[in-house]
Amino acid sequence: MVSSDQLIEIAKRRGFFWQGSAIYGSLAGFFDYAHLGVFLKRRWETLWRKYFLGLDENYYEIQPSLIMHENVFKASGHLESFADPVAKCGKCGNAERADHILEDVLKENFEGVSVEDLLNLIKKHGIKCGKCKGEITEVRQFNMMFPLKLGVGKQEKTGYLTGETAQGAYVNFKQMFEVCRKKLPLGLAIIGKAFRNEIAPRNALIRMRELTQAELQIFFDPDTIEEHPNFKDVENYKLQLFPFSNRQSNKIEELTCKQAVEKLKLPKFYVYHLAKVQQFYLDVLKLPREKFRFKQLSDEEKAFYNKFHWDMELNLDSLGGWKEIGGVHYRTDHDLKGHQKTSSQSMEISLEGKKVLPHVLELSFGVDRNLYSLLELAYTEEKDRTVLKFPRAVSPFDAGIFPLVNKDGLQEKAKQVQQLLEEHGFVVFYDDGGSIGRRYRRIDEIGVAAGLTIDYDSLKQDDATIRDRDSMKQIRVKIKDLPQILRKFLQGEELEKLKS
Ligand code: GLY
Repeated sequence: MVSSDQLIEIAKRRGFFWQGSAIYGSLAGFFDYAHLGVFLKRRWETLWRKYFLGLDENYYEIQPSLIMHENVFKASGHLESFADPVAKCGKCGNAERADHILEDVLKENFEGVSVEDLLNLIKKHGIKCGKCKGEITEVRQFNMMFPLKLGVGKQEKTGYLTGETAQGAYVNFKQMFEVCRKKLPLGLAIIGKAFRNEIAPRNALIRMRELTQAELQIFFDPDTIEEHPNFKDVENYKLQLFPFSNRQSNKIEELTCKQAVEKLKLPKFYVYHLAKVQQFYLDVLKLPREKFRFKQLSDEEKAFYNKFHWDMELNLDSLGGWKEIGGVHYRTDHDLKGHQKTSSQSMEISLEGKKVLPHVLELSFGVDRNLYSLLELAYTEEKDRTVLKFPRAVSPFDAGIFPLVNKDGLQEKAKQVQQLLEEHGFVVFYDDGGSIGRRYRRIDEIGVAAGLTIDYDSLKQDDATIRDRDSMKQIRVKIKDLPQILRKFLQGEELEKLKS
């Protein structure tokens, strides 16, 4: 079983990510992506974009600015409610996240518990300051938004680094509705940064102060929430659900979408999107079913803007079990109503003669958390090698290309193959350093799904071998067929079935 320290060490050694500002002793909660991390991140984001924008012709990607007007976060409630409880030591002044120090000792979740109750629990269980063992004397709410001073002198204003990408979609909704098809549902997707002054950043990419989110805000007519035009397609699809009522039994329930609507009293529009999110994890990213679940949050645990809130979770050994990697949030008209009131501008739209203030369903993904999870789920130790078995579709490169030896025209042939594949849009890299065995090990270690080798027979037969990272099996294929065969291989086809 891999530990989180091991994963952080691997990520650093191989060039995925490491702590930011490292030459100055690092800065907690900030991470820099190295070259392989950038490739992996780009892959994940490209798959996300293609899949979620593909759900409807009226879904678009936008890119709002990351620093926004103070009133945006007054209206959204972030300046008042985007806070975590901080426990302070009366002796040394050390501050820690109150629910986490209880969680560490009692192995339970204390999210959403009031500051008074947290302090009482800390005292009851005799929990002391983690630094000096002094008495914890105070628990209070700490707001996580980062204010910024904009401009100078009389013109100086306060702006905020956005705490979630979502607000960029809400403040642009009305204009986007006008310039697009003027119909609902309208989907606005944003892949971008969010900033949170976490009291205790931890677990590498899991709890960061600067993070990447991929979020899709779906604006819909609340009168249609009990339906979805494509619900029939998913009604017998089985969801992996962990409802609040199962917290004691710790049991995941497999319910079809139809059963989820009936048993859990969830609207079809919501359940349809649970299915689409699960399919992204199981069918696109091809993660194991037993590692994935949706967890229902209680009223105390839910984010302040949500009516329904189920998190996507992955079971991560390195972090001791199930970890949140995103959420499906029914935010009602919380945000548009807030912006309508604060800006004094109507957020209503006209729909077939009817005035509608749309409601929002938000599909929210923590990109960095997803990447950490991919790294853990990919990590495999075998007898003679360590391999990162990333799902083929998210490997940092599509293939490594190797001349068997560096003479007799093999390098030139391999370069031709590289050019051919790049012309077909593949991301490949060429390596002619060291023995072929070592070169295979190198790509295994960074998770490249396919190794293409040019040997002496390749010169005669105009072909190459493809080696599958996971099984280490090889087949020969004609170079003219390589783009098509590599494409199928990356889509998940077994190597044996691809012989040309
Ligand atoms: N936009 C939802 C979140 O930041 O979790």
